[in-house]
Amino acid sequence: MSSEGVPAVNRFLRLFAIAAFLCCSAAAQQTPPPPPAVPKTPAAPALKTGYAGSDACKVCHEEIYNSFAKSPHFTVETDKSRGWAAQSCEACHGPGAKHADSADAKDIRQPAKLTAPEADHVCLACHLNNTTSFGRIMTGHAKETVGCPQCHSIHGTGGRKLVERKTAEINSQCASCHISVWAAFQKPYKHRLPEGAMTCTDCHNPHADNMPQSMRVSFGNEPTCFRCHSDKRGPFVFEHAPVRLEGCVACHEPHGSANPRMLTRAQVRFVCLECHANTKPGPPPASPLASLGGTKLSNIGQTPPAFHNLLNPQFQNCTLCHVKVHGSYVDGFLQR
Ligand code: HEC
Ligand code: HEC
Ligand code: HEC
Ligand code: HEC
Ligand code: HEC
Ligand code: HEC
Ligand code: HEC
Ligand code: HEC
Ligand code: HEC
Ligand code: HEC
Repeated sequence: MSSEGVPAVNRFLRLFAIAAFLCCSAAAQQTPPPPPAVPKTPAAPALKTGYAGSDACKVCHEEIYNSFAKSPHFTVETDKSRGWAAQSCEACHGPGAKHADSADAKDIRQPAKLTAPEADHVCLACHLNNTTSFGRIMTGHAKETVGCPQCHSIHGTGGRKLVERKTAEINSQCASCHISVWAAFQKPYKHRLPEGAMTCTDCHNPHADNMPQSMRVSFGNEPTCFRCHSDKRGPFVFEHAPVRLEGCVACHEPHGSANPRMLTRAQVRFVCLECHANTKPGPPPASPLASLGGTKLSNIGQTPPAFHNLLNPQFQNCTLCHVKVHGSYVDGFLQR
């Protein structure tokens, strides 16, 4: 037991001797003496305490470094005014001197292992004022553990991009999680996303926006639908109340539908009669407006006048007469 210390010391001395020999012989081979160390950039900023600098990271993570050098974020490394020159890796990964010594994963911040809100804060340290991140903290993505790194690959290694820009790639990124939404786009009547003519981000802002369901806004504060369907925008002299109040989804399924015109019902009249029929037993509510916020079962809109004989096929096709179902400039009954 007690004799074990002796060979250990011997082994240490032997190793030391070998190391010393290797050092000396290596030095002997360097015939021209090494030039005096010069700083790489004359005015290289001093590293903050606890920080190792990006060159240190490069020694062990060269592939990431080289790929990162092509990314827009590399400006953080080179631009002295941002406060992270020569230590940009650590702008996201935190002080890395300890990890650079130990090479131990637990000594460094890995954003992919943080919760979504924590990872978001790493990014928002710089991106807080991006208009693109408007309301980011409130969006369903933040609440439901989808952080920035899940959609943005910082280093661009493994073929992933910092930002998906191609239509098909954005759609497949979104579809990879929103499988049921993508299924709706396979229905017969839909916007042409599978064909690559549009993207989810034409209608939604993945960073959230100030409308429900992260809908993009156009013209200030209106749903993005008007950006492409501007004829539905008005302002009309005679509005059709639900277009303004409930929005397009009162009658349409924008992700796709089995019904022509992406309507919520197979026939136009059933869409109309959801609101324009006295389907609720008993007397109608005193004021049609009183029930606007309620379900669609009662006669929210006016009941069609008595001459509308719905058994008569002539009256079944409501939009034959009420052509301007999205609003009219001239007729309160939306006929012209
Ligand atoms: C001496 C070599 C070495 C240096 C220098 C080094 N790393 Fe590492 N790093 C490693 C090794 C090895 C691993 C893998 C550890 C593991 O998987 O257990 C690693 C892992 C990481 C991880 C992933 C951690 C995780 O939880 O998965 C990050 C992030 C990282 N390094 C960033 C950095 C940054 C930033 C620097 C510069 C400040 C740096 N490294 C410098 C060797 C190094
Ligand atoms: C703008 C923020 C940011 C900067 C700057 C940054 N990283 Fe990262 N890094 C991340 C995020 C986010 C992840 C986790 C997600 C991923 O793997 O893409 C990560 C993951 C890593 C990993 C572990 C995963 C892997 O791919 O092996 C290493 C190692 C790493 N970074 C090293 C570096 C080095 C070295 C630099 C500087 C050249 C650097 N990072 C600069 C954000 C950053
Ligand atoms: C130290 C500050 C800083 C941090 C932290 C930071 N970024 Fe950036 N980011 C920048 C700068 C600077 C640019 C380049 C802006 C420009 O080109 O105008 C940029 C650009 C981007 C871009 C846009 C690239 C393009 O093509 O338009 C994305 C996406 C991005 N960052 C995502 C992230 C994510 C995700 C994180 C967190 C993992 C993050 N950033 C953390 C400073 C930062
Ligand atoms: C990593 C998985 C993932 C990816 C990728 C993803 N989402 Fe989400 N998304 C979620 C989760 C989880 C929720 C919250 C639960 C829900 O409402 O379904 C959500 C919610 C939403 C919502 C509901 C509105 C809100 O703010 O809560 C919209 C809209 C949305 N995502 C659009 C998109 C778009 C557009 C893309 C592509 C740019 C995308 N998502 C990519 C997982 C993802
Ligand atoms: C659900 C996926 C998703 C999440 C989560 C996400 N982004 Fe994005 N981001 C995108 C997509 C898709 C684009 C490209 C948008 C486009 O071109 O329409 C983008 C674009 C950007 C841009 C480029 C500027 C622009 O508007 O084109 C920046 C910067 C950015 N994101 C930062 C962030 C930051 C910071 C976070 C976290 C706070 C984040 N993103 C979270 C999907 C996402
Ligand atoms: C033509 C515009 C449009 C396009 C394109 C679009 N959406 Fe939507 N999306 C909407 C509208 C409008 C709502 C709100 C529906 C409501 O309020 O009932 C919505 C709701 C959502 C929701 C929340 C409710 C739900 O149905 O789960 C998610 C998630 C969503 N969209 C994801 C996506 C994804 C992913 C894509 C791309 C594959 C996409 N959307 C493409 C308009 C669109
Ligand atoms: C980026 C432009 C764009 C946006 C945004 C957009 N649409 Fe469309 N929409 C189109 C195009 C283009 C068509 C033509 C049909 C096609 O692509 O086959 C269409 C068709 C339609 C149709 C069916 C028309 C028909 O004749 O069958 C409806 C209904 C519709 N959109 C509703 C909406 C609603 C509701 C929204 C908002 C939630 C919206 N759209 C947002 C471009 C857009
Ligand atoms: C009150 C129900 C209702 C609302 C609300 C509604 N629509 Fe429609 N929409 C219809 C009906 C019904 C048709 C089919 C008309 C026909 O068959 O003649 C239609 C047809 C369309 C068409 C294709 C034909 C055309 O007129 O261009 C588009 C595009 C459209 N709607 C977009 C929208 C948009 C965008 C909104 C939101 C601003 C919206 N709709 C709100 C009922 C509605
Ligand atoms: C989501 C409920 C809803 C749907 C669906 C709906 N409407 Fe309406 N409609 C209303 C409301 C509410 C008014 C305003 C009633 C009022 O001002 O008293 C209205 C007004 C009208 C008016 C004008 C009458 C008046 O008194 O101002 C006509 C005509 C009309 N709708 C026809 C239709 C047709 C045709 C359809 C089917 C394409 C339809 N509506 C679908 C809710 C709806
Ligand atoms: C043959 C043409 C025609 C058809 C088809 C038709 N309407 Fe009408 N509708 C009218 C006329 C004309 C008026 C205006 C009556 C008046 O001047 O008082 C009217 C008025 C209305 C009003 C306003 C009632 C009020 O008192 O404010 C509603 C609501 C209405 N129609 C709904 C419908 C619905 C729902 C359908 C389909 C089931 C439909 N209409 C089909 C011609 C038609």
